[in-house]
Parts: sequence; structure tokens; C-alpha cells
Amino acid sequence: MKTLKYALIGGAAFLPAGAMAAELNLICSADVVICEKLVSEFEASHSDIDVNMVRLSSGEAYAKVRAEGRNPQTDLWWGGTGDPHLQAAHDGLTAEYKSPMLDKLQDWAQGQAKTSDYHTVGVYSGALGWGYNKDIFAEKGIKAPECWSDLLDPALKGEIQIADPNSSGTAYTTLATLVQIMGEDEAFDFLKKMHANVSQYTKSGSAPVKAAARGETGLGIVFQHDAVAQAVEGFPIEVGSPCEGTGYEIGSMSMIEGAQNEESAKVFYDWVLTPEVQNMMPEAGSFQIPSNASATPPKEAPDLSKIKLIDYDFAEYGSAERRKELLSRWDEEIGSLPLQ
Ligand code: G6P
Repeated sequence: MKTLKYALIGGAAFLPAGAMAAELNLICSADVVICEKLVSEFEASHSDIDVNMVRLSSGEAYAKVRAEGRNPQTDLWWGGTGDPHLQAAHDGLTAEYKSPMLDKLQDWAQGQAKTSDYHTVGVYSGALGWGYNKDIFAEKGIKAPECWSDLLDPALKGEIQIADPNSSGTAYTTLATLVQIMGEDEAFDFLKKMHANVSQYTKSGSAPVKAAARGETGLGIVFQHDAVAQAVEGFPIEVGSPCEGTGYEIGSMSMIEGAQNEESAKVFYDWVLTPEVQNMMPEAGSFQIPSNASATPPKEAPDLSKIKLIDYDFAEYGSAERRKELLSRWDEEIGSLPLQ
């Protein structure tokens, strides 16, 4: 427990000076800008709860929750791709919670809750693709890729960045998507060939398109909404959606089993699922599709009905066995290769 440093005068909730505020230890796995926005909006409307937030990529967040095990320091994990949230549910690391907001959510968000026996829930969704720097492509005479197979074009040597699927949910979604489209052996063969064009495997999923925006690389394999975010900022980024079809994420949220601040976690959990809060996401440059059925999808958000989406098998690719197996094969066959 912390002592509140100052009392809010005229705020939504008034705490007398010297009163003790409750705490909430939050892991946030989406972009840091939306993480900070959520925390500041939450604290402004809940002056009785102090939030300690750490931003971690989805796989890193899973590893932290797992390492804390029976002595959890984290209360709530918001955002990041759904697969590691499902794995955490399977491992008994997260708690069952049925929010009063549950029946206000889109079917895909409720489906994520059902798949996990209500140990996680969908908070947003978005499709995978890439963003490329059209100035670099024009300068170097590189043809814009339309399909996953185009990423093997030798003209793209050293121009591709993608994250490491161990730390990043974006990169794990890419790996699982390619396996579902091509078959496992063929997907690893594809990744080995694509490795010749990769300059760096980053830790965070959206870093590759941020690098492309700054002209440090030609193309980043990312969620399409992360590429849109760079274009909206004014960078010369074009968004690509693979012709063979693509996977998508159900960004998720989980309460931690044995959380020390369970009540604060429930308050945040219910609050963050409201349409009012989800409608704020574009103000922080976050253009996913919100999970509350009454929230308004941002006008900039890629229209999922126009993207060729695969029938991504969240139960299988979020299962502990499959995720572990694919990540260790990636380490052996791709992560161990020297960068060119
Ligand atoms: C970005 C996207 C989110 C996604 C997250 C996953 O922040 O905007 O939609 O859930 O990446 O992050 P990671 O670093 O785990 O790939």
C-alpha cells in the first residue's frame, strides 16, 4: 500500500489527504503509448487506486507471470496477443473471472473467454501483414510484395525485420499463421529462406515497422494496425495484406491467480471493457478493432471483412504443448542461424 501523494480536488472520487490508496500491478503488452494512456485515464477516474505498470511484449509477459508462479507480483495482464494468455490459462497461472461486461463483447472476445474457461478475455483484434517504406522501395526499385511468397524476393536482402517469436506475440502469430497456411515443415523452410532477407529479429512486435518508418529498414512484418499507426503519424508507410491469407490476434486480458490486489484488478478489468474506454484507443495511435460491441472501430482500422483471414486455430496454437514445440523448433532452426 502506498500513501497517496496528493488529494484530488473536484475529481471524480475524493480521497482525504493522507488516506491510503489501493494498488494495482499491471503488465501491459500493447504499445507503450496506449498503456500509458490507459493508466493515466484510469488513475484520473479512480483516485483511490495507484497503478504500477510495466510494458512487456506478450511472450516476455508470459515468462514473468510464470516466473512469479505461486508468489505473484502482478495482478492483471492487459493486451498482447491471445496465444500466451491461453497458455497461461492452461498452466493455471491466471484466474477465472466473468466480468459483468462479458455479454457486451463481440463473439470473438467471448469465444476467447470460453476457450480458456473464463481465464482470459478478448480486448481487441487485428490482422497480421506488413508495412513497407514506399520511399525506400522506390529508391531501390523493389517491387511491393503482395504475398508471403514475395518476401523471398532476393531484392529484399537485408530489408526485412520481424520480431523474435519467443518475446513477441506478433512474431508468434506470424509463425503460427505460416504453419496453418503452408504446413509446418514448409513454413520452417519458408522462414529459413526468408532469413536471408532479415536484418534483425527484434524483441517487440511493432518495432520492425517503426524502424521502416524511420528509414532504417525497408519492411516490417507486423500487425496491419501497427503499420497504419505509422502512416497516420505521417511516415511513408504502405500497409500490405498477404494474398495467400493471413492470421489475426485476439488481444487478451487475464487476472493473475492469487493476485494480491484482486479487487483493484477487477475494477480495472471491468472499466477497460467499457465502450467509453475502448473508444479512446485511437487517441493513443492504437487502431485495433475494439471488443465491446458498442464501441466504434477506429475509421483508420484495417477492415477485417476485406482482409483474407485464415480460420486461425486459437485453441491449438495457444495450447502449451504446441506453443512450446513451435518456439523450440524456431530456436533450433531459425534463431540459431547467423544474421547476414
Ligand atoms: C502491438 C500491437 C498489439 C499487439 C502487440 C503485441 O502493440 O499494436 O495489437 O497485441 O503489439 O506485442 P508483442 O511485442 O508481443 O508482439
